[in-house]
Amino acid sequence: MPRLSALLLAWYDLQKRTLPWRDHPDPYAVWVSEIMCQQTRVETVIPYFEKWMKQFPSVKALASASEQDVLNAWEGLGYYSRARNLHKAAKVVVEKFGGKLPRDLDDLRSLPGIGRYTVGAIASLAFKMDEPTLDGNIRRVFSRLFDVKEIADSTAGEKTLWELTAKNLPKGRAGDYNQALMDLGAMVCLPKNPRCLICPLMKICKAREAGTQELRPVMKPKKQVPTYVHVAAVIVERGRALLSQRPANGLLGGMWEFPNARVDGDPARELVKALRGATRLKVQKKEPLGFVQHAYSHFRVIVYPFLCAKVEAPKDKKFKWVPLDELDDYPMGKVDRQIAKKVVGQA
Ligand code: ADE
Repeated sequence: MPRLSALLLAWYDLQKRTLPWRDHPDPYAVWVSEIMCQQTRVETVIPYFEKWMKQFPSVKALASASEQDVLNAWEGLGYYSRARNLHKAAKVVVEKFGGKLPRDLDDLRSLPGIGRYTVGAIASLAFKMDEPTLDGNIRRVFSRLFDVKEIADSTAGEKTLWELTAKNLPKGRAGDYNQALMDLGAMVCLPKNPRCLICPLMKICKAREAGTQELRPVMKPKKQVPTYVHVAAVIVERGRALLSQRPANGLLGGMWEFPNARVDGDPARELVKALRGATRLKVQKKEPLGFVQHAYSHFRVIVYPFLCAKVEAPKDKKFKWVPLDELDDYPMGKVDRQIAKKVVGQA
């Protein structure tokens, strides 16, 4: 076995994290965990994963669940298209593959939400195949091990990194190798202040030798993200709040929110007009309820909710009057959940 994988696996055998999906016998569990772990920290994922597996214990159970229940179970993890794709893919697995996740790599890749990374992870962890994978942690580890000067998130850089991880893969232990790299990236080869002195690969790390650890991986410059200001109307009548459902696709697709609109100027002054323009809802402003902010991947929002009275609501099936004690049943993003908490007096 090459030195790199021998050192890495020896470390993993002693230091690996105990995670509920590790060595799980069901490929579905591995799949769910890998999708949850994309863009979300492992510590955050663990309780969601455990709850999810109780609520949707099999591909079949997930396929027959409602989208509302699926989004509700995902609430708080963010990047909700992951949940919608997982749900869609579960239906395809039931219809096309008899409820069993296919072993064929092209079949796997054809499923919604499953890209090259997830194929490699499922194939190696769940099916014990000799397949590499490359997530953010592995990318950082290999960029440093081989002091890769190419831009790591460019097409050329990704190609180099996939080749490096494939070349060093130990036959028969790809699942452990991939997870060892993920653990090393999460616990030792940290983005800032890497813990080189306790790293099992310190002696063979080219960046360590050159003193370039903090300069790797080389990444494309980050774009500045814009900040948008929104107003939201909190309208409560006879113990029910007026919610609006977002379009099925796109950001927070299918989730619920308080009717809202973007403004360019003073929120209090623009509230009525902006809402009428964006939602055709006519309201009368009553009182401000503070503000809520959130950073999405490509922009930030500051939302100013106002308690309002309804003057006129258009007949539109995206609107729904929801009893205050049922607000929790309606999947919402972080911003609207905070507003909902203000409404029922918990915040
Ligand atoms: N991140 C994503 N999948 C993981 C796994 N299986 N082990 C550790 N970290 C991960």
